[in-house]
Amino acid sequence: MRIVQIGAGGWGKNHLRVLSGLGVLGAVCDSDPSRCAEYGRRYGIKCYTSLDDMMNSEEFDGAFVVTPTSTHAAITERLLEAGKHVFVEKPLTYSAQEGASLARLALKKGLVLTCGYIERFNPAVETVKKMTDDGRYGKLMMLELRRENRMPLHIKDVGIIYDTSVHDIDTANWLFGDMPQIVFARAGRMKHDHEDYASIMLGYPGDRIAVITSNWITPERVRRFDAVFADAVVSSDFITQEVTVHGADGASTESGDGREPLLLEIQSFLGAMRGSHRHRVAPDEAVGVTTIAEAALRSSREGVPVRLDTD
Ligand SMILES: NC(=O)c1ccc[n+]([C@@H]2O[C@H](COP(=O)([O-])OP(=O)(O)OC[C@H]3O[C@@H](n4cnc5c(N)ncnc54)[C@H](O)[C@@H]3O)[C@@H](O)[C@H]2O)c1
Repeated sequence: MRIVQIGAGGWGKNHLRVLSGLGVLGAVCDSDPSRCAEYGRRYGIKCYTSLDDMMNSEEFDGAFVVTPTSTHAAITERLLEAGKHVFVEKPLTYSAQEGASLARLALKKGLVLTCGYIERFNPAVETVKKMTDDGRYGKLMMLELRRENRMPLHIKDVGIIYDTSVHDIDTANWLFGDMPQIVFARAGRMKHDHEDYASIMLGYPGDRIAVITSNWITPERVRRFDAVFADAVVSSDFITQEVTVHGADGASTESGDGREPLLLEIQSFLGAMRGSHRHRVAPDEAVGVTTIAEAALRSSREGVPVRLDTD
Protein backbone atom coordinates (compact mmCIF):
# COMPACT_ATOMS: atom_id res chain seq x y z
CA MET A 1 0.00 0.00 0.00
CA ARG A 2 1.34 3.42 -0.96
CA ILE A 3 -0.04 6.68 0.43
CA VAL A 4 0.64 10.28 -0.58
CA GLN A 5 -0.17 13.43 1.33
CA ILE A 6 -1.23 16.86 0.11
CA GLY A 7 -0.55 19.61 2.67
CA ALA A 8 2.34 19.55 5.13
CA GLY A 9 1.50 22.46 7.41
CA GLY A 10 0.84 22.78 11.13
CA TRP A 11 -1.44 19.74 11.33
CA GLY A 12 -0.26 17.78 8.28
CA LYS A 13 3.23 17.29 9.73
CA ASN A 14 1.65 14.91 12.26
CA HIS A 15 0.09 12.72 9.54
CA LEU A 16 3.45 12.58 7.76
CA ARG A 17 5.14 11.34 10.96
CA VAL A 18 2.50 8.65 11.53
CA LEU A 19 2.33 7.52 7.87
CA SER A 20 6.12 7.34 7.65
CA GLY A 21 6.23 5.36 10.92
CA LEU A 22 3.72 2.89 9.45
CA GLY A 23 5.94 2.50 6.36
CA VAL A 24 3.30 3.57 3.81
CA LEU A 25 4.29 7.17 2.98
CA GLY A 26 5.23 7.45 -0.70
CA ALA A 27 5.34 11.18 -1.52
CA VAL A 28 4.32 14.61 -0.27
CA CYS A 29 2.88 17.63 -2.05
CA ASP A 30 2.80 21.15 -0.61
CA SER A 31 2.50 24.33 -2.64
CA ASP A 32 5.07 25.93 -0.32
CA PRO A 33 8.45 24.87 -1.81
CA SER A 34 10.40 25.12 1.46
CA ARG A 35 7.91 22.99 3.41
CA CYS A 36 7.79 20.53 0.55
CA ALA A 37 11.58 20.20 0.48
CA GLU A 38 11.86 19.99 4.28
CA TYR A 39 9.49 17.02 4.59
CA GLY A 40 10.79 15.35 1.44
CA ARG A 41 14.26 15.40 3.02
CA ARG A 42 13.11 14.39 6.49
CA TYR A 43 11.26 11.28 5.31
CA GLY A 44 13.41 10.44 2.29
CA ILE A 45 10.48 10.76 -0.15
CA LYS A 46 9.80 12.75 -3.34
CA CYS A 47 8.17 16.10 -2.84
CA TYR A 48 6.00 18.05 -5.29
CA THR A 49 4.69 21.60 -5.24
CA SER A 50 1.89 20.75 -7.69
CA LEU A 51 -0.81 18.09 -7.38
CA ASP A 52 -0.79 17.63 -11.17
CA ASP A 53 2.93 16.80 -11.16
CA MET A 54 2.49 14.35 -8.30
CA MET A 55 -0.46 12.63 -9.95
CA ASN A 56 1.42 12.34 -13.25
CA SER A 57 4.53 10.86 -11.63
CA GLU A 58 3.42 8.75 -8.65
CA GLU A 59 1.63 5.41 -8.33
CA PHE A 60 -0.42 5.33 -5.11
CA ASP A 61 -3.54 3.79 -3.57
CA GLY A 62 -4.73 6.49 -1.19
CA ALA A 63 -4.19 10.12 -0.25
CA PHE A 64 -4.42 12.36 2.78
CA VAL A 65 -5.70 15.90 2.10
CA VAL A 66 -4.45 18.19 4.88
CA THR A 67 -4.79 21.56 3.15
CA PRO A 68 -7.02 24.53 4.10
CA THR A 69 -10.78 23.83 4.03
CA SER A 70 -11.40 26.00 0.96
CA THR A 71 -9.24 23.64 -1.14
CA HIS A 72 -10.70 20.29 0.06
CA ALA A 73 -13.49 19.87 -2.52
CA ALA A 74 -11.41 20.38 -5.68
CA ILE A 75 -8.41 18.30 -4.50
CA THR A 76 -10.61 15.46 -3.24
CA GLU A 77 -12.70 15.33 -6.41
CA ARG A 78 -9.53 15.09 -8.48
CA LEU A 79 -8.24 12.19 -6.37
CA LEU A 80 -11.55 10.28 -6.35
CA GLU A 81 -11.90 10.71 -10.13
CA ALA A 82 -8.43 9.11 -10.42
CA GLY A 83 -9.64 6.10 -8.38
CA LYS A 84 -7.83 6.89 -5.11
CA HIS A 85 -9.12 6.36 -1.56
CA VAL A 86 -9.17 9.70 0.28
CA PHE A 87 -8.85 10.86 3.87
CA VAL A 88 -9.76 14.57 4.06
CA GLU A 89 -9.09 16.65 7.12
CA LYS A 90 -12.10 18.27 8.77
CA PRO A 91 -14.39 19.80 7.75
CA LEU A 92 -14.95 17.64 4.64
CA THR A 93 -15.83 20.67 2.49
CA TYR A 94 -16.97 24.23 2.91
CA SER A 95 -20.49 23.51 1.64
CA ALA A 96 -22.61 20.48 2.47
CA GLN A 97 -23.64 20.29 -1.20
CA GLU A 98 -20.01 19.87 -2.32
CA GLY A 99 -19.51 17.21 0.38
CA ALA A 100 -22.62 15.30 -0.72
CA SER A 101 -21.37 15.28 -4.29
CA LEU A 102 -17.99 13.85 -3.16
CA ALA A 103 -19.81 11.20 -1.07
CA ARG A 104 -21.83 10.15 -4.16
CA LEU A 105 -18.67 10.00 -6.28
CA ALA A 106 -16.84 7.81 -3.73
CA LEU A 107 -19.84 5.46 -3.53
CA LYS A 108 -20.09 5.22 -7.33
CA LYS A 109 -16.38 4.42 -7.61
CA GLY A 110 -16.33 2.02 -4.62
CA LEU A 111 -13.67 4.09 -2.83
CA VAL A 112 -13.15 4.84 0.84
CA LEU A 113 -13.77 8.51 1.60
CA THR A 114 -13.56 9.77 5.14
CA CYS A 115 -13.01 12.92 7.14
CA GLY A 116 -10.71 13.65 10.10
CA TYR A 117 -13.19 13.67 12.96
CA ILE A 118 -10.41 12.51 15.23
CA GLU A 119 -12.28 12.70 18.54
CA ARG A 120 -14.13 9.50 17.61
CA PHE A 121 -10.76 7.81 18.12
CA ASN A 122 -10.12 9.53 21.46
CA PRO A 123 -10.17 6.82 24.16
CA ALA A 124 -12.25 9.16 26.43
CA VAL A 125 -14.95 9.47 23.76
CA GLU A 126 -14.81 5.71 23.14
CA THR A 127 -15.43 5.11 26.88
CA VAL A 128 -18.46 7.42 26.93
CA LYS A 129 -19.76 5.91 23.66
CA LYS A 130 -19.66 2.45 25.30
CA MET A 131 -21.58 3.81 28.34
CA THR A 132 -24.17 5.30 25.98
CA ASP A 133 -24.59 2.14 23.94
CA ASP A 134 -24.74 -0.33 26.85
CA GLY A 135 -27.12 1.92 28.81
CA ARG A 136 -25.41 1.29 32.17
CA TYR A 137 -26.31 4.82 33.41
CA GLY A 138 -29.62 5.04 31.59
CA LYS A 139 -30.42 7.28 28.68
CA LEU A 140 -28.03 10.03 27.56
CA MET A 141 -30.05 13.24 27.53
CA MET A 142 -27.60 16.18 27.52
CA LEU A 143 -24.10 16.97 26.34
CA GLU A 144 -22.12 20.09 27.13
CA LEU A 145 -18.91 20.42 25.13
CA ARG A 146 -16.28 23.15 25.58
CA ARG A 147 -13.31 23.87 23.35
CA GLU A 148 -11.17 26.96 23.92
CA ASN A 149 -7.73 28.09 22.89
CA ARG A 150 -5.83 31.09 21.59
CA MET A 151 -6.66 31.89 17.98
CA PRO A 152 -4.59 29.92 15.40
CA LEU A 153 -3.32 32.87 13.34
CA HIS A 154 -2.64 30.88 10.17
CA ILE A 155 -6.31 29.84 9.69
CA LYS A 156 -7.63 32.39 7.21
CA ASP A 157 -10.45 30.71 5.32
CA VAL A 158 -12.92 29.76 8.08
CA GLY A 159 -14.08 30.88 11.51
CA ILE A 160 -14.32 28.94 14.74
CA ILE A 161 -17.52 27.07 13.84
CA TYR A 162 -15.99 25.40 10.76
CA ASP A 163 -12.56 25.01 12.33
CA THR A 164 -13.26 24.02 15.92
CA SER A 165 -16.94 23.54 16.83
CA VAL A 166 -17.24 20.87 14.10
CA HIS A 167 -15.27 18.44 16.32
CA ASP A 168 -17.89 18.81 19.04
CA ILE A 169 -20.80 18.70 16.57
CA ASP A 170 -19.45 15.38 15.30
CA THR A 171 -18.90 14.05 18.84
CA ALA A 172 -22.49 14.96 19.79
CA ASN A 173 -23.91 13.26 16.66
CA TRP A 174 -21.74 10.20 17.32
CA LEU A 175 -22.71 9.85 20.99
CA PHE A 176 -26.41 10.42 20.33
CA GLY A 177 -26.26 8.29 17.16
CA ASP A 178 -28.45 10.88 15.47
CA MET A 179 -28.68 14.19 13.63
CA PRO A 180 -30.28 17.18 15.38
CA GLN A 181 -33.66 18.43 14.23
CA ILE A 182 -32.96 22.03 15.19
CA VAL A 183 -29.91 24.30 15.44
CA PHE A 184 -29.68 27.61 17.27
CA ALA A 185 -26.42 29.55 17.50
CA ARG A 186 -24.98 32.88 18.50
CA ALA A 187 -21.46 33.82 17.44
CA GLY A 188 -19.29 36.91 17.37
CA ARG A 189 -15.95 38.29 16.32
CA MET A 190 -13.38 39.91 18.61
CA LYS A 191 -9.94 39.46 17.03
CA HIS A 192 -10.36 37.62 13.74
CA ASP A 193 -11.86 38.17 10.27
CA HIS A 194 -14.39 35.43 10.91
CA GLU A 195 -16.36 34.56 14.06
CA ASP A 196 -14.02 33.64 16.93
CA TYR A 197 -16.51 32.66 19.63
CA ALA A 198 -19.73 30.71 19.33
CA SER A 199 -22.39 28.93 21.34
CA ILE A 200 -24.45 26.36 19.49
CA MET A 201 -27.49 24.51 20.80
CA LEU A 202 -28.53 21.34 18.99
CA GLY A 203 -31.93 19.75 19.63
CA TYR A 204 -32.13 16.02 18.88
CA PRO A 205 -35.24 13.83 18.66
CA GLY A 206 -36.61 12.83 22.09
CA ASP A 207 -35.70 16.15 23.77
CA ARG A 208 -31.98 15.32 23.81
CA ILE A 209 -29.75 18.41 23.78
CA ALA A 210 -26.13 19.30 23.01
CA VAL A 211 -24.67 22.68 23.95
CA ILE A 212 -21.37 23.50 22.28
CA THR A 213 -19.25 26.46 23.37
CA SER A 214 -16.08 27.37 21.50
CA ASN A 215 -13.77 30.36 21.63
CA TRP A 216 -10.39 31.46 20.29
CA ILE A 217 -9.90 33.95 23.14
CA THR A 218 -8.93 31.84 26.19
CA PRO A 219 -5.14 31.50 26.52
CA GLU A 220 -5.45 28.05 28.10
CA ARG A 221 -6.21 25.01 25.95
CA VAL A 222 -9.53 23.59 27.16
CA ARG A 223 -11.26 20.58 25.58
CA ARG A 224 -13.85 19.04 27.88
CA PHE A 225 -17.30 17.59 27.83
CA ASP A 226 -19.99 16.55 30.29
CA ALA A 227 -22.55 13.89 29.47
CA VAL A 228 -25.76 13.87 31.51
CA PHE A 229 -27.24 10.36 31.72
CA ALA A 230 -30.42 9.48 33.66
CA ASP A 231 -28.35 7.94 36.51
CA ALA A 232 -24.96 9.68 36.34
CA VAL A 233 -23.08 12.66 35.00
CA VAL A 234 -19.85 11.78 33.19
CA SER A 235 -17.13 14.44 32.82
CA SER A 236 -14.37 13.87 30.28
CA ASP A 237 -11.28 15.64 29.11
CA PHE A 238 -10.30 15.20 25.45
CA ILE A 239 -6.68 16.15 26.29
CA THR A 240 -5.92 14.03 29.39
CA GLN A 241 -8.43 11.36 28.26
CA GLU A 242 -9.65 11.14 31.88
CA VAL A 243 -13.29 10.15 32.44
CA THR A 244 -15.01 10.82 35.81
CA VAL A 245 -18.39 9.31 36.65
CA HIS A 246 -20.42 11.29 39.19
CA GLY A 247 -23.08 8.87 40.44
CA ALA A 248 -25.28 8.42 43.52
CA ASP A 249 -22.33 6.78 45.38
CA GLY A 250 -19.82 9.57 44.68
CA ALA A 251 -17.27 10.04 41.91
CA SER A 252 -14.79 7.66 40.33
CA THR A 253 -12.15 8.49 37.74
CA GLU A 254 -10.73 6.34 34.95
CA SER A 255 -7.40 7.53 33.51
CA GLY A 256 -6.89 7.59 29.80
CA ASP A 257 -4.52 5.03 28.33
CA GLY A 258 -2.69 7.73 26.33
CA ARG A 259 -3.18 6.05 22.94
CA GLU A 260 -2.66 8.62 20.18
CA PRO A 261 -6.01 9.30 18.47
CA LEU A 262 -4.29 10.27 15.18
CA LEU A 263 -2.48 6.92 14.97
CA LEU A 264 -5.72 5.02 15.69
CA GLU A 265 -7.60 7.09 13.10
CA ILE A 266 -4.97 6.57 10.39
CA GLN A 267 -4.69 2.83 11.13
CA SER A 268 -8.46 2.55 10.83
CA PHE A 269 -8.47 4.34 7.44
CA LEU A 270 -5.69 2.07 6.13
CA GLY A 271 -7.63 -0.99 7.39
CA ALA A 272 -10.75 0.25 5.57
CA MET A 273 -8.71 0.70 2.38
CA ARG A 274 -7.62 -2.95 2.70
CA GLY A 275 -11.29 -3.90 3.13
CA SER A 276 -10.95 -5.29 6.67
CA HIS A 277 -13.67 -3.03 8.17
CA ARG A 278 -15.69 0.13 7.54
CA HIS A 279 -14.01 3.30 8.70
CA ARG A 280 -15.79 4.83 11.72
CA VAL A 281 -16.56 8.16 9.99
CA ALA A 282 -18.86 7.63 6.99
CA PRO A 283 -18.91 10.34 4.30
CA ASP A 284 -22.60 11.14 4.86
CA GLU A 285 -21.88 11.72 8.56
CA ALA A 286 -19.16 14.23 7.64
CA VAL A 287 -21.64 15.92 5.28
CA GLY A 288 -24.11 16.01 8.21
CA VAL A 289 -21.57 17.91 10.33
CA THR A 290 -21.10 20.48 7.56
CA THR A 291 -24.89 20.81 7.23
CA ILE A 292 -25.07 21.63 10.96
CA ALA A 293 -22.13 24.08 10.75
CA GLU A 294 -23.86 25.85 7.85
CA ALA A 295 -27.09 25.98 9.87
CA ALA A 296 -25.23 27.36 12.91
CA LEU A 297 -23.72 30.18 10.83
CA ARG A 298 -27.12 30.95 9.32
CA SER A 299 -28.83 30.85 12.72
CA SER A 300 -26.25 33.20 14.20
CA ARG A 301 -26.44 35.58 11.26
CA GLU A 302 -30.25 35.71 11.13
CA GLY A 303 -30.93 35.36 14.87
CA VAL A 304 -33.34 32.46 14.36
CA PRO A 305 -33.34 28.72 14.99
CA VAL A 306 -32.81 26.62 11.85
CA ARG A 307 -34.85 23.44 11.49
CA LEU A 308 -33.00 20.65 9.69
CA ASP A 309 -35.86 18.18 9.56
CA THR A 310 -38.01 20.46 7.38
CA ASP A 311 -35.29 22.03 5.17
N1 LIG B 1 -8.27 17.07 13.17
C1 LIG B 1 -7.70 18.08 13.81
O1 LIG B 1 -7.64 18.08 15.03
C2 LIG B 1 -7.14 19.24 13.03
C3 LIG B 1 -6.26 20.13 13.66
C4 LIG B 1 -5.74 21.20 12.91
C5 LIG B 1 -6.10 21.33 11.57
N2 LIG B 1 -6.95 20.43 11.00
C6 LIG B 1 -7.35 20.57 9.57
O2 LIG B 1 -6.22 20.29 8.76
C7 LIG B 1 -6.26 21.08 7.58
C8 LIG B 1 -4.95 21.88 7.46
O3 LIG B 1 -4.79 22.70 8.59
P1 LIG B 1 -3.34 23.22 9.04
O4 LIG B 1 -3.54 23.79 10.40
O5 LIG B 1 -2.31 22.16 8.84
O6 LIG B 1 -3.13 24.40 7.97
P2 LIG B 1 -1.73 25.02 7.49
O7 LIG B 1 -2.09 26.29 6.83
O8 LIG B 1 -0.76 25.02 8.61
O9 LIG B 1 -1.21 23.98 6.41
C9 LIG B 1 -1.81 23.82 5.14
C10 LIG B 1 -0.70 23.45 4.14
O10 LIG B 1 -1.33 23.18 2.89
C11 LIG B 1 -0.52 23.78 1.87
N3 LIG B 1 -1.41 24.01 0.73
C12 LIG B 1 -2.40 24.94 0.61
N4 LIG B 1 -3.05 24.78 -0.55
C13 LIG B 1 -2.45 23.74 -1.19
C14 LIG B 1 -2.67 23.11 -2.45
N5 LIG B 1 -3.65 23.52 -3.26
N6 LIG B 1 -1.86 22.09 -2.80
C15 LIG B 1 -0.86 21.67 -1.97
N7 LIG B 1 -0.61 22.25 -0.77
C16 LIG B 1 -1.39 23.26 -0.39
C17 LIG B 1 0.04 25.05 2.49
O11 LIG B 1 1.22 25.48 1.84
C18 LIG B 1 0.31 24.59 3.93
O12 LIG B 1 1.62 24.08 4.10
C19 LIG B 1 -7.51 21.96 7.69
O13 LIG B 1 -8.57 21.30 7.04
C20 LIG B 1 -7.80 21.98 9.20
O14 LIG B 1 -9.17 22.18 9.51
C21 LIG B 1 -7.46 19.39 11.69
